[in-house]
Amino acid sequence: MNDTIRTMRAHRSIRAFKATPIPDEHIHEALLAGQAAATSSAVQAFCVIRVREDDTRQKIADLAGPQQKVRDCPAFFVICADLRRHMLITERAGNDYTSSLEAFLVGSIDASLFAQNFVLAFESLGYGTCYIGGIRNDLPTVDKLLNLPRGVLPMYGLCVGLPAQDPDHRPRLAPQQVLFDDRYPDDADMLAGLDAYDETYRQYLTDRGAPPAAWTESIAKKFSYANRPGLRAYYESKGISLD
Ligand SMILES: Cc1cc2nc3c(=O)[nH]c(=O)nc-3n(C[C@H](O)[C@H](O)[C@H](O)COP(=O)(O)O)c2cc1C
Repeated sequence: MNDTIRTMRAHRSIRAFKATPIPDEHIHEALLAGQAAATSSAVQAFCVIRVREDDTRQKIADLAGPQQKVRDCPAFFVICADLRRHMLITERAGNDYTSSLEAFLVGSIDASLFAQNFVLAFESLGYGTCYIGGIRNDLPTVDKLLNLPRGVLPMYGLCVGLPAQDPDHRPRLAPQQVLFDDRYPDDADMLAGLDAYDETYRQYLTDRGAPPAAWTESIAKKFSYANRPGLRAYYESKGISLD
């Protein structure tokens, strides 16, 4: 295993941080690493907002759960798909900006490629990170707090700091359950392959002192109702067509 792969495989989300601040040089290095990620046709449809004000952090921590780590971590970022630059450039050129689901996908893919490089760079420098999807509980409030214009679409937050905990790695599906040769497997084969993973996952939760549940049980619960149904209306309010 080389050092890069070792760093990638050492990932686990960190939810408790030391108070030690992150030097600006480290943030700058991680930013450049994030920007070095591939981007659809070089459109660079993302931005990242560093949230420094305590009061804003606390409000986001509250609406995200509450998740107090959002307030307490040394650095908190909101990762956004950013179509605004494209809107401004297109309109300056005298054309109408035409929104589409494709542009929304490009922005969310670009933002996530950026974010994962950003995270890995921090992790390679010894920091721990935790993505915060909880901000999508209340995007209109996040929007107001960050003064987001039309075309800027918050996706998730990111806590960064030196770890104050050393959690176990959360087990992943077996490689043969995610890499398929030539064609997708039969449903029966897919489901049968999950039993062993359920057992590993239950053991992982038991070892963490969490109530033991099979992975498939939690998935069956999670996807049996519509999660965060207001997202479409919010994103459309930012000038985005999801058609
Ligand atoms: C987009 C995204 C949003 C997430 N949101 C949250 C969150 O709001 N709070 C949290 O504690 N963890 C959050 N996580 C972390 C996941 O729960 C975690 O990555 C997953 O359980 C796998 O564990 P690991 O990262 O320790 O390997 C999020 C992860 C991703 C990728």
